[in-house]
Amino acid sequence: MSQKIQEAQGKLGVLLPGLGAVATTFIAGCLAMRKGIAEPIGSLTQTGTIRLGKRTDKRSPKINEFVSLAKLDDMVFGGWDIFPENTYEAAMKAGVLAPELLAQVKDEMEAISPWPAVFDQRYVKRLHGEHVKKGANWMELAEQLMEDIKTFQKDHGLARMVMVWCGSTEVFMKPGPAHQSLSAFEKAMRENDPSIAPSMVYAYAAIKLGIPYANGAPNLSADFPALVELAKETRTPLGGKDFKTGQTLMKTILAPGFKARLLGVSGWFSTNILGNRDGEVLDDPESFKTKEESKLSVLDSVFQPHLYPELYSGLYHKVRINYYPPRGDNKESWDNIDIFGWLGYPMSIKINFLCRDSILAAPIVLDLALFLDFAKRAEMRGVQEWLSFYFKSPIHAPDLYPEHDLFIQLMKLKNTLRHLKGEELITHLGLEYYD
Ligand SMILES: NC(=O)c1ccc[n+]([C@@H]2O[C@H](COP(=O)([O-])OP(=O)(O)OC[C@H]3O[C@@H](n4cnc5c(N)ncnc54)[C@H](O)[C@@H]3O)[C@@H](O)[C@H]2O)c1
Repeated sequence: MSQKIQEAQGKLGVLLPGLGAVATTFIAGCLAMRKGIAEPIGSLTQTGTIRLGKRTDKRSPKINEFVSLAKLDDMVFGGWDIFPENTYEAAMKAGVLAPELLAQVKDEMEAISPWPAVFDQRYVKRLHGEHVKKGANWMELAEQLMEDIKTFQKDHGLARMVMVWCGSTEVFMKPGPAHQSLSAFEKAMRENDPSIAPSMVYAYAAIKLGIPYANGAPNLSADFPALVELAKETRTPLGGKDFKTGQTLMKTILAPGFKARLLGVSGWFSTNILGNRDGEVLDDPESFKTKEESKLSVLDSVFQPHLYPELYSGLYHKVRINYYPPRGDNKESWDNIDIFGWLGYPMSIKINFLCRDSILAAPIVLDLALFLDFAKRAEMRGVQEWLSFYFKSPIHAPDLYPEHDLFIQLMKLKNTLRHLKGEELITHLGLEYYD
Protein backbone atom coordinates (compact mmCIF):
# COMPACT_ATOMS: atom_id res chain seq x y z
CA MET A 1 0.00 0.00 0.00
CA SER A 2 1.35 3.37 -1.00
CA GLN A 3 1.26 5.85 1.84
CA LYS A 4 0.18 9.41 1.26
CA ILE A 5 3.23 11.57 0.85
CA GLN A 6 2.87 15.31 0.68
CA GLU A 7 3.99 16.67 -2.72
CA ALA A 8 7.13 18.83 -2.91
CA GLN A 9 5.36 22.11 -3.44
CA GLY A 10 6.87 25.52 -2.72
CA LYS A 11 10.46 26.45 -2.06
CA LEU A 12 13.01 24.33 -0.20
CA GLY A 13 15.63 26.16 1.88
CA VAL A 14 18.99 24.38 2.09
CA LEU A 15 20.90 25.43 5.20
CA LEU A 16 24.63 24.81 5.11
CA PRO A 17 26.82 25.30 8.18
CA GLY A 18 30.27 25.73 6.56
CA LEU A 19 30.39 27.48 3.19
CA GLY A 20 33.76 26.11 2.09
CA ALA A 21 34.86 23.99 -0.87
CA VAL A 22 32.09 21.38 -0.79
CA ALA A 23 29.19 23.73 -0.06
CA THR A 24 30.19 26.32 -2.68
CA THR A 25 30.82 23.61 -5.31
CA PHE A 26 27.35 22.27 -4.54
CA ILE A 27 25.67 25.69 -4.77
CA ALA A 28 27.52 26.72 -7.95
CA GLY A 29 26.65 23.38 -9.55
CA CYS A 30 22.95 23.71 -8.74
CA LEU A 31 22.87 27.25 -10.10
CA ALA A 32 24.72 26.22 -13.27
CA MET A 33 22.31 23.31 -13.79
CA ARG A 34 19.35 25.61 -13.41
CA LYS A 35 20.76 27.71 -16.20
CA GLY A 36 21.22 24.60 -18.32
CA ILE A 37 25.00 25.02 -18.56
CA ALA A 38 25.90 21.85 -16.64
CA GLU A 39 24.59 18.32 -16.13
CA PRO A 40 23.91 16.81 -12.67
CA ILE A 41 26.48 14.04 -13.04
CA GLY A 42 26.92 11.87 -9.94
CA SER A 43 23.47 12.62 -8.54
CA LEU A 44 21.06 9.74 -8.05
CA THR A 45 18.10 12.06 -7.55
CA GLN A 46 18.70 13.80 -10.88
CA THR A 47 19.97 11.05 -13.19
CA GLY A 48 19.22 7.75 -11.43
CA THR A 49 16.46 5.38 -12.45
CA ILE A 50 14.57 2.77 -10.46
CA ARG A 51 13.32 -0.53 -11.79
CA LEU A 52 9.73 -1.32 -10.82
CA GLY A 53 7.99 -4.67 -11.06
CA LYS A 54 9.29 -7.58 -13.14
CA ARG A 55 12.20 -7.30 -15.55
CA THR A 56 9.73 -8.09 -18.31
CA ASP A 57 7.57 -5.09 -17.30
CA LYS A 58 10.22 -2.70 -18.62
CA ARG A 59 9.33 0.00 -16.09
CA SER A 60 12.38 2.02 -15.07
CA PRO A 61 11.34 5.61 -14.43
CA LYS A 62 13.77 8.24 -13.26
CA ILE A 63 13.81 8.45 -9.47
CA ASN A 64 12.66 12.07 -9.54
CA GLU A 65 9.64 11.05 -11.61
CA PHE A 66 8.83 8.13 -9.30
CA VAL A 67 8.91 10.14 -6.06
CA SER A 68 8.08 13.80 -5.58
CA LEU A 69 11.35 15.67 -4.96
CA ALA A 70 11.99 19.40 -4.79
CA LYS A 71 13.12 20.89 -8.11
CA LEU A 72 16.47 22.62 -8.50
CA ASP A 73 14.53 25.77 -9.41
CA ASP A 74 12.77 25.66 -6.04
CA MET A 75 15.94 25.47 -3.95
CA VAL A 76 17.22 28.47 -1.97
CA PHE A 77 20.64 28.36 -0.30
CA GLY A 78 21.82 29.85 2.97
CA GLY A 79 24.54 29.14 5.48
CA TRP A 80 27.03 30.10 8.14
CA ASP A 81 30.79 30.43 8.12
CA ILE A 82 33.51 31.81 10.36
CA PHE A 83 34.80 33.79 7.37
CA PRO A 84 32.58 36.57 6.00
CA GLU A 85 33.27 36.09 2.26
CA ASN A 86 30.24 35.54 0.05
CA THR A 87 29.92 32.19 -1.71
CA TYR A 88 31.40 33.51 -4.97
CA GLU A 89 34.54 34.69 -3.17
CA ALA A 90 34.72 31.49 -1.15
CA ALA A 91 34.37 29.36 -4.29
CA MET A 92 37.12 31.35 -6.03
CA LYS A 93 39.35 30.84 -3.01
CA ALA A 94 38.57 27.11 -2.82
CA GLY A 95 39.74 26.83 -6.42
CA VAL A 96 37.65 23.78 -7.25
CA LEU A 97 35.68 25.22 -10.15
CA ALA A 98 37.01 27.16 -13.12
CA PRO A 99 36.63 30.97 -12.91
CA GLU A 100 34.83 30.85 -16.30
CA LEU A 101 32.10 28.65 -14.84
CA LEU A 102 31.83 30.69 -11.65
CA ALA A 103 31.54 33.91 -13.70
CA GLN A 104 28.26 32.57 -15.09
CA VAL A 105 26.69 32.21 -11.64
CA LYS A 106 28.53 35.10 -10.01
CA ASP A 107 25.51 37.34 -9.31
CA GLU A 108 23.54 34.64 -7.50
CA MET A 109 26.58 33.48 -5.53
CA GLU A 110 27.55 36.99 -4.51
CA ALA A 111 24.08 37.37 -3.05
CA ILE A 112 24.68 34.48 -0.63
CA SER A 113 26.81 35.64 2.28
CA PRO A 114 27.29 33.59 5.42
CA TRP A 115 25.62 34.43 8.68
CA PRO A 116 28.04 34.61 11.63
CA ALA A 117 28.93 31.12 12.84
CA VAL A 118 28.77 29.31 16.14
CA PHE A 119 32.43 28.46 16.49
CA ASP A 120 35.03 27.68 19.11
CA GLN A 121 38.64 27.05 18.26
CA ARG A 122 38.92 24.31 20.86
CA TYR A 123 37.06 22.07 18.41
CA VAL A 124 38.87 23.00 15.15
CA LYS A 125 42.38 23.95 16.15
CA ARG A 126 43.72 25.04 12.78
CA LEU A 127 41.11 27.70 12.03
CA HIS A 128 40.85 31.30 13.27
CA GLY A 129 37.76 33.19 12.22
CA GLU A 130 36.22 36.42 13.39
CA HIS A 131 32.78 36.08 11.83
CA VAL A 132 31.28 34.38 14.88
CA LYS A 133 28.33 34.81 17.19
CA LYS A 134 28.62 35.76 20.83
CA GLY A 135 26.40 34.27 23.49
CA ALA A 136 26.48 33.42 27.18
CA ASN A 137 26.17 29.68 26.55
CA TRP A 138 25.49 27.04 23.87
CA MET A 139 21.74 27.34 24.34
CA GLU A 140 21.78 31.06 23.64
CA LEU A 141 23.84 30.40 20.54
CA ALA A 142 21.36 27.75 19.39
CA GLU A 143 18.58 30.30 19.81
CA GLN A 144 20.50 32.75 17.62
CA LEU A 145 20.81 30.06 14.93
CA MET A 146 17.08 29.43 15.14
CA GLU A 147 16.48 33.16 14.62
CA ASP A 148 18.69 33.09 11.49
CA ILE A 149 16.71 30.14 10.20
CA LYS A 150 13.33 31.74 10.83
CA THR A 151 14.40 34.99 9.17
CA PHE A 152 15.70 33.04 6.15
CA GLN A 153 12.40 31.20 5.89
CA LYS A 154 10.40 34.40 6.09
CA ASP A 155 12.59 36.40 3.69
CA HIS A 156 12.39 33.75 0.98
CA GLY A 157 8.89 32.43 1.62
CA LEU A 158 10.21 28.89 2.13
CA ALA A 159 7.77 26.01 2.43
CA ARG A 160 10.33 23.61 3.95
CA MET A 161 14.01 23.46 4.93
CA VAL A 162 16.83 20.95 5.39
CA MET A 163 20.30 21.33 6.92
CA VAL A 164 23.50 19.60 5.76
CA TRP A 165 26.67 20.14 7.82
CA CYS A 166 29.51 21.04 5.44
CA GLY A 167 31.70 22.55 8.15
CA SER A 168 35.19 21.48 9.13
CA THR A 169 35.90 18.23 10.93
CA GLU A 170 35.94 18.81 14.66
CA VAL A 171 38.23 17.11 17.18
CA PHE A 172 37.57 13.51 18.16
CA MET A 173 34.91 13.18 20.88
CA LYS A 174 32.98 10.27 22.31
CA PRO A 175 29.43 10.54 23.63
CA GLY A 176 29.47 11.19 27.39
CA PRO A 177 26.81 11.65 30.08
CA ALA A 178 25.62 14.95 28.52
CA HIS A 179 24.70 13.12 25.30
CA GLN A 180 22.59 10.36 26.78
CA SER A 181 19.25 12.13 27.11
CA LEU A 182 17.65 15.29 25.83
CA SER A 183 17.23 16.75 29.31
CA ALA A 184 20.92 16.13 30.14
CA PHE A 185 21.93 17.65 26.81
CA GLU A 186 19.82 20.80 27.23
CA LYS A 187 21.13 21.25 30.76
CA ALA A 188 24.69 20.88 29.47
CA MET A 189 23.98 23.47 26.77
CA ARG A 190 22.82 25.97 29.35
CA GLU A 191 25.89 25.21 31.46
CA ASN A 192 28.26 25.62 28.51
CA ASP A 193 29.57 22.10 28.94
CA PRO A 194 32.78 21.49 26.91
CA SER A 195 31.47 18.10 25.81
CA ILE A 196 29.19 20.03 23.44
CA ALA A 197 30.76 21.06 20.13
CA PRO A 198 29.48 23.71 17.69
CA SER A 199 28.24 21.14 15.15
CA MET A 200 25.95 19.78 17.89
CA VAL A 201 24.53 23.24 18.44
CA TYR A 202 23.59 23.54 14.74
CA ALA A 203 22.12 20.03 14.79
CA TYR A 204 20.11 20.87 17.90
CA ALA A 205 18.78 24.12 16.34
CA ALA A 206 17.69 22.32 13.17
CA ILE A 207 16.12 19.30 14.85
CA LYS A 208 14.37 21.46 17.44
CA LEU A 209 12.66 23.28 14.56
CA GLY A 210 11.80 19.97 12.88
CA ILE A 211 14.31 20.57 10.07
CA PRO A 212 15.93 17.37 8.72
CA TYR A 213 19.65 17.25 9.47
CA ALA A 214 22.57 15.40 7.86
CA ASN A 215 26.19 15.54 8.90
CA GLY A 216 28.72 15.45 6.05
CA ALA A 217 31.73 15.36 8.37
CA PRO A 218 32.82 12.58 10.74
CA ASN A 219 32.38 14.50 14.03
CA LEU A 220 29.65 13.33 16.39
CA SER A 221 27.25 16.22 15.76
CA ALA A 222 23.89 14.43 16.04
CA ASP A 223 25.01 10.83 16.47
CA PHE A 224 24.02 10.27 20.10
CA PRO A 225 20.85 9.42 22.02
CA ALA A 226 19.89 12.98 23.07
CA LEU A 227 19.49 14.29 19.53
CA VAL A 228 17.93 11.07 18.26
CA GLU A 229 15.37 11.52 21.06
CA LEU A 230 14.76 15.12 19.98
CA ALA A 231 14.41 14.00 16.33
CA LYS A 232 11.72 11.51 17.32
CA GLU A 233 9.93 14.14 19.36
CA THR A 234 9.95 16.74 16.57
CA ARG A 235 9.38 14.10 13.83
CA THR A 236 12.63 14.93 12.11
CA PRO A 237 14.75 12.71 9.83
CA LEU A 238 18.48 12.44 10.63
CA GLY A 239 21.46 11.29 8.58
CA GLY A 240 25.26 11.04 8.81
CA LYS A 241 28.17 10.82 9.08
CA ASP A 242 30.96 11.81 6.69
CA PHE A 243 30.27 11.97 2.95
CA LYS A 244 31.45 8.80 1.26
CA THR A 245 33.75 10.03 -1.51
CA GLY A 246 37.25 9.26 -2.84
CA GLN A 247 39.24 6.54 -1.21
CA THR A 248 36.49 5.20 1.06
CA LEU A 249 34.08 5.06 -1.85
CA MET A 250 36.62 2.88 -3.67
CA LYS A 251 36.97 0.70 -0.57
CA THR A 252 33.26 0.05 -0.30
CA ILE A 253 33.14 -0.79 -4.01
CA LEU A 254 36.11 -3.19 -3.95
CA ALA A 255 35.91 -4.83 -0.53
CA PRO A 256 32.42 -6.34 -1.13
CA GLY A 257 33.82 -7.81 -4.35
CA PHE A 258 36.74 -9.48 -2.57
CA LYS A 259 34.39 -10.84 0.05
CA ALA A 260 31.92 -12.07 -2.56
CA ARG A 261 34.71 -14.16 -4.16
CA LEU A 262 36.15 -15.14 -0.76
CA LEU A 263 39.56 -13.67 -1.44
CA GLY A 264 41.57 -13.05 1.72
CA VAL A 265 43.04 -9.65 2.53
CA SER A 266 46.12 -9.37 4.72
CA GLY A 267 46.82 -5.66 4.38
CA TRP A 268 45.30 -2.46 3.08
CA PHE A 269 47.49 0.62 3.22
CA SER A 270 45.88 3.89 2.17
CA THR A 271 47.62 7.21 1.91
CA ASN A 272 46.50 10.59 0.57
CA ILE A 273 47.86 13.99 -0.27
CA LEU A 274 45.41 16.82 0.03
CA GLY A 275 45.99 20.58 -0.06
CA ASN A 276 42.69 22.32 0.62
CA ARG A 277 41.44 23.81 3.89
CA ASP A 278 39.96 20.47 4.84
CA GLY A 279 43.48 19.01 4.50
CA GLU A 280 44.83 21.78 6.71
CA VAL A 281 42.20 21.11 9.39
CA LEU A 282 42.93 17.38 9.21
CA ASP A 283 46.62 18.11 9.71
CA ASP A 284 45.72 18.65 13.36
CA PRO A 285 46.01 15.23 15.06
CA GLU A 286 42.73 15.64 16.96
CA SER A 287 40.66 16.36 13.84
CA PHE A 288 42.57 13.64 11.99
CA LYS A 289 41.63 11.14 14.70
CA THR A 290 37.93 11.82 13.99
CA LYS A 291 38.49 11.23 10.26
CA GLU A 292 40.71 8.21 10.85
CA GLU A 293 38.08 6.43 12.98
CA SER A 294 35.53 7.07 10.26
CA LYS A 295 37.77 5.78 7.46
CA LEU A 296 38.95 2.74 9.41
CA SER A 297 35.51 1.51 10.41
CA VAL A 298 34.55 0.55 6.87
CA LEU A 299 36.57 -2.59 6.17
CA ASP A 300 35.81 -4.48 9.34
CA SER A 301 32.10 -4.31 8.84
CA VAL A 302 32.30 -5.26 5.16
CA PHE A 303 34.69 -8.18 5.76
CA GLN A 304 33.08 -9.49 8.97
CA PRO A 305 36.27 -11.18 10.26
CA HIS A 306 34.28 -12.99 12.97
CA LEU A 307 32.51 -14.90 10.20
CA TYR A 308 35.60 -15.33 7.98
CA PRO A 309 38.55 -15.49 10.38
CA GLU A 310 40.76 -17.37 7.90
CA LEU A 311 40.35 -14.56 5.35
CA TYR A 312 40.23 -11.33 7.29
CA SER A 313 41.19 -11.67 10.95
CA GLY A 314 44.83 -10.78 10.24
CA LEU A 315 44.04 -7.69 8.16
CA TYR A 316 46.36 -4.75 8.78
CA HIS A 317 44.56 -1.55 7.81
CA LYS A 318 46.29 1.83 7.86
CA VAL A 319 45.04 5.21 6.67
CA ARG A 320 47.19 8.31 6.27
CA ILE A 321 46.23 11.84 5.23
CA ASN A 322 49.05 14.22 4.41
CA TYR A 323 48.48 17.93 4.04
CA TYR A 324 50.23 19.02 0.85
CA PRO A 325 49.17 22.53 -0.25
CA PRO A 326 50.27 22.46 -3.94
CA ARG A 327 47.47 20.02 -4.79
CA GLY A 328 44.58 22.11 -3.47
CA ASP A 329 41.29 20.23 -3.72
CA ASN A 330 42.74 17.71 -6.17
CA LYS A 331 43.51 14.94 -3.77
CA GLU A 332 45.65 12.02 -4.83
CA SER A 333 45.34 8.73 -3.05
CA TRP A 334 47.30 5.50 -3.21
CA ASP A 335 46.11 2.16 -1.94
CA ASN A 336 48.21 -0.95 -1.69
CA ILE A 337 46.04 -4.00 -1.10
CA ASP A 338 47.64 -7.33 -0.25
CA ILE A 339 45.24 -10.14 -1.02
CA PHE A 340 45.55 -13.92 -1.12
CA GLY A 341 43.75 -16.65 -3.00
CA TRP A 342 43.70 -20.43 -3.55
CA LEU A 343 46.27 -22.18 -1.34
CA GLY A 344 47.11 -18.86 0.24
CA TYR A 345 49.03 -17.51 -2.77
CA PRO A 346 49.56 -13.76 -2.35
CA MET A 347 48.71 -11.07 -4.89
CA SER A 348 48.58 -7.32 -4.66
CA ILE A 349 46.51 -4.54 -6.15
CA LYS A 350 47.51 -0.89 -6.45
CA ILE A 351 45.06 1.95 -6.83
CA ASN A 352 46.09 5.46 -7.67
CA PHE A 353 43.04 7.70 -7.60
CA LEU A 354 43.52 11.26 -8.82
CA CYS A 355 40.28 12.57 -7.50
CA ARG A 356 38.57 15.88 -6.93
CA ASP A 357 37.15 15.83 -3.46
CA SER A 358 34.44 18.44 -3.73
CA ILE A 359 33.35 17.27 -7.19
CA LEU A 360 32.58 13.90 -5.61
CA ALA A 361 30.92 15.42 -2.54
CA ALA A 362 28.65 18.03 -4.18
CA PRO A 363 26.10 15.61 -5.70
CA ILE A 364 25.89 13.88 -2.32
CA VAL A 365 24.85 17.17 -0.70
CA LEU A 366 22.17 17.59 -3.37
CA ASP A 367 20.80 14.07 -2.98
CA LEU A 368 20.80 14.28 0.80
CA ALA A 369 18.97 17.59 0.78
CA LEU A 370 16.29 16.20 -1.53
CA PHE A 371 15.92 12.79 0.09
CA LEU A 372 15.82 14.22 3.62
CA ASP A 373 13.09 16.59 2.56
CA PHE A 374 11.27 13.65 0.97
CA ALA A 375 11.70 11.63 4.18
CA LYS A 376 10.15 14.44 6.19
CA ARG A 377 7.15 14.61 3.86
CA ALA A 378 6.86 10.81 4.11
CA GLU A 379 6.65 11.26 7.90
CA MET A 380 9.85 9.36 8.59
CA ARG A 381 11.77 10.41 11.67
CA GLY A 382 14.98 9.67 13.52
CA VAL A 383 17.90 7.81 11.91
CA GLN A 384 17.44 7.25 8.16
CA GLU A 385 19.49 4.12 7.61
CA TRP A 386 18.41 3.96 3.96
CA LEU A 387 20.67 6.98 3.33
CA SER A 388 23.79 5.01 4.46
CA PHE A 389 24.70 4.95 0.74
CA TYR A 390 26.08 8.46 1.12
CA PHE A 391 28.17 8.07 4.28
CA LYS A 392 31.47 6.65 5.43
CA SER A 393 30.17 6.08 8.97
CA PRO A 394 26.43 5.59 8.64
CA ILE A 395 24.44 6.34 11.77
CA HIS A 396 22.59 3.22 12.85
CA ALA A 397 20.53 1.81 15.70
CA PRO A 398 22.69 0.99 18.75
CA ASP A 399 22.14 -2.78 18.53
CA LEU A 400 22.94 -3.04 14.81
CA TYR A 401 26.17 -3.07 12.87
CA PRO A 402 26.31 -0.44 10.12
CA GLU A 403 25.92 -1.51 6.51
CA HIS A 404 28.93 -0.33 4.46
CA ASP A 405 28.62 -2.38 1.27
CA LEU A 406 27.77 0.20 -1.41
CA PHE A 407 25.61 -2.25 -3.37
CA ILE A 408 23.56 -3.34 -0.36
CA GLN A 409 23.21 0.34 0.54
CA LEU A 410 21.86 1.17 -2.92
CA MET A 411 19.42 -1.73 -2.80
CA LYS A 412 18.25 -0.57 0.63
CA LEU A 413 17.76 2.97 -0.67
CA LYS A 414 15.77 1.94 -3.71
CA ASN A 415 13.71 -0.63 -1.80
CA THR A 416 12.83 2.08 0.73
CA LEU A 417 11.48 4.23 -2.09
CA ARG A 418 9.56 1.26 -3.55
CA HIS A 419 8.19 0.44 -0.10
CA LEU A 420 7.00 4.01 0.51
CA LYS A 421 5.30 4.09 -2.87
CA GLY A 422 3.63 0.70 -2.42
CA GLU A 423 5.68 -1.01 -5.15
CA GLU A 424 6.88 -4.59 -4.89
CA LEU A 425 10.36 -4.89 -3.30
CA ILE A 426 13.02 -6.28 -5.60
CA THR A 427 14.79 -9.33 -4.19
CA HIS A 428 16.56 -10.40 -7.43
CA LEU A 429 15.23 -13.93 -6.91
CA GLY A 430 13.92 -14.17 -10.46
CA LEU A 431 12.72 -17.81 -10.36
CA GLU A 432 9.39 -16.78 -11.87
CA TYR A 433 11.05 -16.13 -15.24
CA TYR A 434 11.88 -19.86 -15.49
CA ASP A 435 8.58 -21.44 -14.43
N1 LIG B 1 35.00 14.77 -0.55
C1 LIG B 1 34.95 15.71 0.36
O1 LIG B 1 35.21 16.82 0.07
C2 LIG B 1 34.50 15.34 1.74
C3 LIG B 1 34.21 14.02 2.01
C4 LIG B 1 33.79 13.66 3.28
C5 LIG B 1 33.68 14.63 4.25
N2 LIG B 1 34.01 15.91 3.97
C6 LIG B 1 33.90 16.86 5.06
O2 LIG B 1 33.09 17.93 4.67
C7 LIG B 1 33.50 19.08 5.37
C8 LIG B 1 33.68 20.22 4.37
O3 LIG B 1 34.75 19.93 3.49
P1 LIG B 1 35.37 21.10 2.62
O4 LIG B 1 36.36 20.48 1.70
O5 LIG B 1 34.30 21.97 2.09
O6 LIG B 1 36.19 21.91 3.74
P2 LIG B 1 36.45 23.48 3.80
O7 LIG B 1 37.52 23.65 4.81
O8 LIG B 1 36.69 24.03 2.44
O9 LIG B 1 35.08 24.08 4.31
C9 LIG B 1 34.64 23.97 5.61
C10 LIG B 1 34.12 25.33 6.02
O10 LIG B 1 33.52 25.20 7.29
C11 LIG B 1 33.80 26.40 7.98
N3 LIG B 1 33.54 26.14 9.40
C12 LIG B 1 34.31 25.48 10.28
N4 LIG B 1 33.68 25.43 11.49
C13 LIG B 1 32.52 26.08 11.34
C14 LIG B 1 31.44 26.35 12.20
N5 LIG B 1 31.46 25.95 13.47
N6 LIG B 1 30.38 27.02 11.72
C15 LIG B 1 30.34 27.42 10.42
N7 LIG B 1 31.35 27.21 9.56
C16 LIG B 1 32.41 26.53 10.01
C17 LIG B 1 35.21 26.74 7.60
O11 LIG B 1 35.49 28.08 7.84
C18 LIG B 1 35.21 26.37 6.13
O12 LIG B 1 34.90 27.47 5.31
C19 LIG B 1 34.78 18.72 6.11
O13 LIG B 1 34.50 18.39 7.43
C20 LIG B 1 35.23 17.49 5.38
O14 LIG B 1 36.02 16.63 6.21
C21 LIG B 1 34.41 16.29 2.73
